[in-house]
Amino acid sequence: MEFTLTEEQLMIQEAARDFAQNVLKPGVIERDNKQEHPTEFVKQMGELGLMGLMTSEKYGGSGMDTIAYTLGIEELSKIDNSCSVIMSAHNSLALWGIEKYGEEELKQEYLPKMTSGEMIGAFCLSEPEAGSDATSQRTSAEDKGDHYLVNGTKNWITNGKKAGAYVVIAQTEPEIRHRGINAMLIDASWEGVTTGVKEDKLGIRSSDTCSVMFQDVKVPKTHRLGPEGFGFKYAMQTLDGGRIGIAAQALGMAAGSYELALAYSHERKAFGKPINNHQAIAFKLADMAMKIEAARMMVYRAAWMKDTGREFAQAAAMAKLFASEVAMETTIEAVQVHGGYGYVKEYHVERLMRDAKITQIYEGTSEIQRMVISRNLIKGLKHLPMQ
Ligand code: CAA
Repeated sequence: MEFTLTEEQLMIQEAARDFAQNVLKPGVIERDNKQEHPTEFVKQMGELGLMGLMTSEKYGGSGMDTIAYTLGIEELSKIDNSCSVIMSAHNSLALWGIEKYGEEELKQEYLPKMTSGEMIGAFCLSEPEAGSDATSQRTSAEDKGDHYLVNGTKNWITNGKKAGAYVVIAQTEPEIRHRGINAMLIDASWEGVTTGVKEDKLGIRSSDTCSVMFQDVKVPKTHRLGPEGFGFKYAMQTLDGGRIGIAAQALGMAAGSYELALAYSHERKAFGKPINNHQAIAFKLADMAMKIEAARMMVYRAAWMKDTGREFAQAAAMAKLFASEVAMETTIEAVQVHGGYGYVKEYHVERLMRDAKITQIYEGTSEIQRMVISRNLIKGLKHLPMQ
């Protein structure tokens, strides 16, 4: 068993770390306060190859593997989770499926703009009445021969306002429920596409989350992703990969808050010695480090399973569930280690704690991950991923 990273993976890790620590960190508190979208930084992420990390070079992507992708997300997430969710939703939820299931002409048209960071992608699945229950799609895509006529509202869309390309899941034949759902690429510039107000969120405040409305939008059939009626499975497969991205994000928040807590515990003195010389703090650090290590193994392994063509949905769900719980616990403990200073914005840990909560909610709540995992177990899935 090998636990080493390739040169290419190390290179992405270093580039993302350098970018996060030196470029993103200086203004991150202000952007969070003002809920300011990091538009300029997204362009730089494109230049660094982060906005098409797993997309093939043929379309301007970096052509790297999922492990490199998790390393990139992890490093950004130590500092700026608005940037890391923009990267994650764009790569996993938009680019991945367009490249895998789109027609060649569509890919030629959209992918180069997207991999360069010029155009951001978004994934429109959730609706006011279809969150966890994703089969209950009310957005309709009426079959009009050579095109679909799309009507409906999508909620909680990451990159909602800034996206140029929406991957939309919509119902064409309600009588056959999820087997009548289609996935399609809708251009944000088309007539009938509008967005709602930016949500005022607890965390990841700089990322733009909003509703996206479609009114009589004509979508050529050439924009469908995958065969007719494949849309629900398309969404599920997309989320299997997306969950690795969110697991990596949770891992990054946990690791980032731990690193801050460790550094602070050396500097801060109480009762005449650094606080990490007190067992109460030292043991907290030990628990944080142990849980992060376990989460890291699960996240990298899920990525490795995807890269090696293994069935990875179960590993992705487990990694996302575990890492997001570790992120929540660890960021809370990091605030505790900082004491009163942890409760103010200047020390970064309160932001990471606020950001952590969303990883237990989006791309499938913790309850949905437990549902996916337990169903697989009951069905008799043999979890022997190393074979
Ligand atoms: N891959 C491929 N196919 C799958 C699949 C998978 N991982 N999971 C299920 N399917 C298939 C099933 O085999 C079944 O197909 P058949 O009818 O042909 O047998 C079909 O899909 C329906 O499956 P279920 O009967 O299991 O469906 P269900 O209604 O019980 O729901 C669920 C399953 C797992 C709960 C699903 O609804 C789900 O994942 N819900 C959560 C949705 C979610 O994660 N939303 C997040 C929104 S996106 C977001 O947050 C993005 C962002 O902006 C950051």
